[in-house]
Amino acid sequence: MTEFRDKSRRQFLGMSGMAGLSTFAAQAIGVNLGLVDVVQAQAGRRSVTPFRFAIISDPHLYSGKDHVFDRQLEDAVAQVNKLSTQPDFVLITGDVSHHGEADQIAKGKAILGKLRAPIRSIPGEHDWYLDMGAAWRGAFGQDVWSFDHKGVHFIGMNSILVPDFWTAAKLTPAQRRDWFMPLNSPVPGLWGVGDKTLDWLRKDVEKISADVPVVVFTHSPLWDYYPRWNFQVSDSKEIRDILGKFVNVMAYHGHVHHTVYNKVGNLTSIGTMSTSWPWPYPPITLPFPEYQQYRADPSNTSDGMGSALVAMDTAGEGFVQYLPFADSLPPAMKNGFKT
Ligand SMILES: [Fe+2]
Ligand SMILES: [Fe+2]
Repeated sequence: MTEFRDKSRRQFLGMSGMAGLSTFAAQAIGVNLGLVDVVQAQAGRRSVTPFRFAIISDPHLYSGKDHVFDRQLEDAVAQVNKLSTQPDFVLITGDVSHHGEADQIAKGKAILGKLRAPIRSIPGEHDWYLDMGAAWRGAFGQDVWSFDHKGVHFIGMNSILVPDFWTAAKLTPAQRRDWFMPLNSPVPGLWGVGDKTLDWLRKDVEKISADVPVVVFTHSPLWDYYPRWNFQVSDSKEIRDILGKFVNVMAYHGHVHHTVYNKVGNLTSIGTMSTSWPWPYPPITLPFPEYQQYRADPSNTSDGMGSALVAMDTAGEGFVQYLPFADSLPPAMKNGFKT
């Protein structure tokens, strides 16, 4: 593991300690993979068995062979596989394909199938709107799920659902899909999980004790980060209310293709990097104490990309690490940012 230091992240860690915001700590040590550890027990939290899980997000695979995005996803898989302490599972937070084509989704499943650890997945908008999730569900299963693991309750929800705008307009499946391709397309409107999933969520957590740590996965963030780019979930307030009884909720998301952190009430929101390309930060001031991450090399199109590895400790405390590129990538891409 090649360690590098990111000045902004050091500052963030320092402020986290001073402010007592200790439910989440992130240390940037690479660019292609992240690791989250839950490392500190705190009063009022149920003790859990330590473990780690990885997150890989937004591969955006194209059709055909030998695309650079294939190699970048393969790199993330290799990084996870060579960890001496394997994650218990790997969460795929959406947009495994770029156009939602069945061959792209099948290729994603095949590459991710090389992981030593089992995977769980939720869809992104790129996976869904060509065939309304048929190929994705065929490859990855349910788009809404939960399970308990070593004392932590995990929830995954499809967060990219919108009301039907295509039937009346007589759009073809490809036209419907294409309206979701631009980051700033207003046609699909704001997306969310929908009432059916909200009802499911209420029932899912009804009998779970408030001191159980909860980890939630959605494709887009559970707060209004930048709705114009659908950096949001339209029913995130309802979700936060349903999960409001829990002492500690950690929510991981993809879609934004960069790191971003926020805390709303008991819910800590963490954006994971993409394995395909980095989106820019939206033109807003990020909520304290987050900083925009540096792009050390603007000419390096892979700079600022990657995925995440999460390790869980005794009380639902998450620690994220980002790992360096694999040996298969050019040396200039291995060494991280210089500050
Ligand atoms: Fe994406
Ligand atoms: Fe997306």
